[in-house]
Amino acid sequence: MLLKDRVAVITGAGQGIGKAVAAAFAAEGAAVAVAEMNAEIGNATVEEFRSKGWKAMFVPCDVSVRQQVDEAAAKVREGLGPIDILVNNAGNTAPAMLHKMTDEQWHKIWGVHVHGGFYWLQAVVGDMIERKWGRIIFTSSSTAQNGSIGQINYSAAKSAVLGMTRTAARELGKHNILVNAVAPASATEMTKTVMEDPKFADIRAVQAKMHPLRRTAEPEEVAKSYVFLASELSSYVTGQVLSVDGGSMLVR
Ligand SMILES: NC(=O)c1ccc[n+]([C@@H]2O[C@H](COP(=O)([O-])OP(=O)(O)OC[C@H]3O[C@@H](n4cnc5c(N)ncnc54)[C@H](O)[C@@H]3O)[C@@H](O)[C@H]2O)c1
Repeated sequence: MLLKDRVAVITGAGQGIGKAVAAAFAAEGAAVAVAEMNAEIGNATVEEFRSKGWKAMFVPCDVSVRQQVDEAAAKVREGLGPIDILVNNAGNTAPAMLHKMTDEQWHKIWGVHVHGGFYWLQAVVGDMIERKWGRIIFTSSSTAQNGSIGQINYSAAKSAVLGMTRTAARELGKHNILVNAVAPASATEMTKTVMEDPKFADIRAVQAKMHPLRRTAEPEEVAKSYVFLASELSSYVTGQVLSVDGGSMLVR
């Protein structure tokens, strides 16, 4: 097993990519903390995992609120032990063309992806430094590189995530803490929110032609890259962005 007895926190793990990552980690022997804002899906996920014999706990947490992050981290330590692996996955969207975007839409996205990611990074790093082992994985997006029409808030936030990834990798390498990012494209409900909105019909047409693989991803196939980055398989990889995008970055 690649993650035997590791303690992992996965934010936004009640559904989508986060849930698939938590399941993949648990199947590899990790004890997983489902840090999720939505208690209904958080609890349901943990029940499902426990029924499979996996070790899991739900920790309620809005990642954009520092106090909730600190409390959630303390609960994980109490319930499962010191934290070895952090996956900053929680995400949201609030699309609008840039000239119409409100401050509220801007801050809503930065609060979750950027502030939430930073709060969790600070909340776990002490455990990792003390134990001289850690894996931190941020979730960026192909939009960090390409931009995304109607999502200036989101693509800017996903670029900021890469800045945090690279800086944290440089600061924490001496403690044997590896920090990397995964950049998925086109999987799950989140993309559908944008792609099914009639306002974005022109993007949808481009999207269909964008993938050499000619299909969008299943969350489970995105999750495999997180197992690689969380395990000893990636012991000499840090500060990197792994695109799990069906080759869409190649097509312009
Ligand atoms: N789906 C895609 O195509 C795609 C592409 C690129 C990047 N991503 C990124 O991957 C990650 C997961 O995406 P997904 O498609 O699984 O999304 P999703 O919408 O299916 O799931 C997101 C989860 O995050 C939770 N969440 C939202 N705000 C939160 C908060 N403030 N605190 C705690 N939890 C919160 C939600 O309740 C939900 O369970 C996100 O960071 C997203 O930006 C997704």
